[in-house]
Amino acid sequence: MREEQLKALLQDMSTEEKIGQLLQVAGTLFGEDSLITGALDYFKITQEELDRTGSILSISGAERLKKVQDACMAKQPHHIPQLFMLDIINGFETIYPVPLAQGATFDPDMAEKLAEMAAREGSAAGIHVTFSPMADLVRDARWGRVMESTGEDSFLNGKMSAAMVRGYQGRNVADKGRMAACVKHFAGYGGAEGGRDYDTVELSERTLRDEYLPAYKEAIDADARLVMTSFNTLNHVPSTGNKWLMKKVLREEMGFDGVLISDYGAVAEMVNHGIAGDEKDAAELALGAGVDIEMMSLAYVRHVEELIAEGRLTMEQVDEACLRVLRLKNELGLFENPYKDADAEDEKALLLCDAHRKLAREAAAESFCLLKNEDGILPLKNQAGEKVAFIGPYSDNHEVFGSWSFPSDASKMVTIRQGVEKAGMEADICFCEGSQMFGADYRLKDGRRFIYDAGKKQPLLDEAIAAAKEADRVVLCLGEHSQQTGEAASRTDITIPEEQMDLLRRVAEVNPNIVTLVFAGRPLELLEVSRLSKAVMMVWFPGCECGNAVADVLFGAKEPGGRLPMSFPYTVAQEPCYYNRFRSGRPNNGTLEQSFVMGYIDQMDRVLYPFGYGMGYTSFSYGPVRLSGDRLGDGQTITATVTLTNTGDREGTETVQLYLTDLFGSVVRPVKQLRGFRRVSLQPGESAEVSFDITPDMLSFYNIDMKYTWEPGTCKVNIAGDSATENSAVFELV
Ligand code: NOJ
Repeated sequence: MREEQLKALLQDMSTEEKIGQLLQVAGTLFGEDSLITGALDYFKITQEELDRTGSILSISGAERLKKVQDACMAKQPHHIPQLFMLDIINGFETIYPVPLAQGATFDPDMAEKLAEMAAREGSAAGIHVTFSPMADLVRDARWGRVMESTGEDSFLNGKMSAAMVRGYQGRNVADKGRMAACVKHFAGYGGAEGGRDYDTVELSERTLRDEYLPAYKEAIDADARLVMTSFNTLNHVPSTGNKWLMKKVLREEMGFDGVLISDYGAVAEMVNHGIAGDEKDAAELALGAGVDIEMMSLAYVRHVEELIAEGRLTMEQVDEACLRVLRLKNELGLFENPYKDADAEDEKALLLCDAHRKLAREAAAESFCLLKNEDGILPLKNQAGEKVAFIGPYSDNHEVFGSWSFPSDASKMVTIRQGVEKAGMEADICFCEGSQMFGADYRLKDGRRFIYDAGKKQPLLDEAIAAAKEADRVVLCLGEHSQQTGEAASRTDITIPEEQMDLLRRVAEVNPNIVTLVFAGRPLELLEVSRLSKAVMMVWFPGCECGNAVADVLFGAKEPGGRLPMSFPYTVAQEPCYYNRFRSGRPNNGTLEQSFVMGYIDQMDRVLYPFGYGMGYTSFSYGPVRLSGDRLGDGQTITATVTLTNTGDREGTETVQLYLTDLFGSVVRPVKQLRGFRRVSLQPGESAEVSFDITPDMLSFYNIDMKYTWEPGTCKVNIAGDSATENSAVFELV
């Protein structure tokens, strides 16, 4: 449709119909044959309201959605098609590594390809919009949703989020295999106090603007068609009713012209926040702030007409929101083809197809972070006479996918055992569970219960110890449960469950040659794991190709490609914990030998593994940082170069990282900030010159007058393989 046609359609719609377009309800309310299922009991929507709904979340399947679309359109006075939205976070059916693991790849091209694959599958299953990427900056490993972010650095998050948007949307969201992306959660959701999900966020405007907003902005600049509000408050106002945030910052400053959707129930939740007396007030606040679609609460459909009659809202506000929704439907081509790409045949051909699995396998290996590799225990030798025991609850487990994964058949996820057995082993291998996941009954956040069987403990342990005694090498497959991560899964304890740690301790008593693979959706406390293991590798939640990717990396067909996207603390008490902290007047040198300095008296002020850290199977050396000049002015560029050499004996890929520091500013600046990265592959003995161009705007920040600018003074350039290694040079910004 042309814009005039959309406007004419809008003109012809009744107020009720327009407001209906602003409501999104969950798919549980729609059955295949009839429009309503019993779920009406919990969400007290009337049949009429349901018939006018403009979008639906959380159902999929080509045939199913076609039927729902037909049924819904038949009831709409103007036969306006529905928008179908879903959380496609780690893939649709071909589940790939969780976003935090994608962050570890430092590879936006990979993130783009993964998103493209997810869009291909999801759109064949009838989905028009994915609630991804999550561009939230995360700095507290207790928060369950760090798994859904690409990590603690806004620069990395921006690159990854923008890549995902490009992957989902392509050049045109109407194209086959594409869908619209929804950037979330605007804004600052990752700053939840104490890492407690849904808790207050207390940020200065400067930190919000300097650290938190840039990643959303990059995703918006990549043309994301939707933005989702966040549950949290900012400056004591919930985002969903925050006019300053939505109108001034999002629309005016960032130039976002797409659809703004609330998070689930977030409009009505403003009553709980105590900022709206009732849902009517909440509707006034949200629509007044420019929230176009209300997800899963009924404040708009129940109260907006009345609010207009009372002069508290205007018809123009409704029209504006409705037009945005219609435009999105139009951009997706739904007025011409309301099913878009929904096609049962394509679904069959695409979902979990070989090409998709291949990409998921590559991505997983690229995301694994090798944190320790004493005596070069990895890669393992796959040779006759070598005995390798795989032990632990993840050694033969199909549940290797992150929260927000909904595989139709979990048994199609390749377990470590399956992957290793398929790899064709010369070595003598065996597998045993070793321990249960938890040491007591545990309520998983998806409502399932893990039931502990005390009687199993000893037999499992005995079998594991016997296997470990026999083996030359032990691969322990341990970690948190995927349902201990994601939304509403914050933890005060970020360790591997004690039952599994017990197993590790017992195995270590009989065999020192331990490689521990850690499944997790967040940084964990790994000090003891690291002491007891010769090698430690984070495999995160790798998805459907878990076993194959683990086999590829363990036996050296591929090297682990990941670098940490978040700092790993010694102890949870160090959280929030991130490398780009502000400079203190009493800096700490990372030892316990000082007094009256920032930090704790009982814990060194450093982390176990820093942001950006990780190893492959070769080694690299960095030459000193060389600068093309020592003064940088407006419109100028300095090139910083290092000579990188592969000093090991196999080909490898290094993630070279550029950090900048403004050593003196009108406000306190972070100790360093990532401003560039590049993956460089070199043959053994080969060297390469790796260069980054530096321009003044890369050092801009909100100065003392809240003006976004750079300030003259001395700056430091650091180029290294992680955020903690010093290899630097200085120049003057003039
Ligand atoms: C709530 C979550 O916060 C959000 O990330 C998600 O997209 C919506 N629910 C829809 O499932």
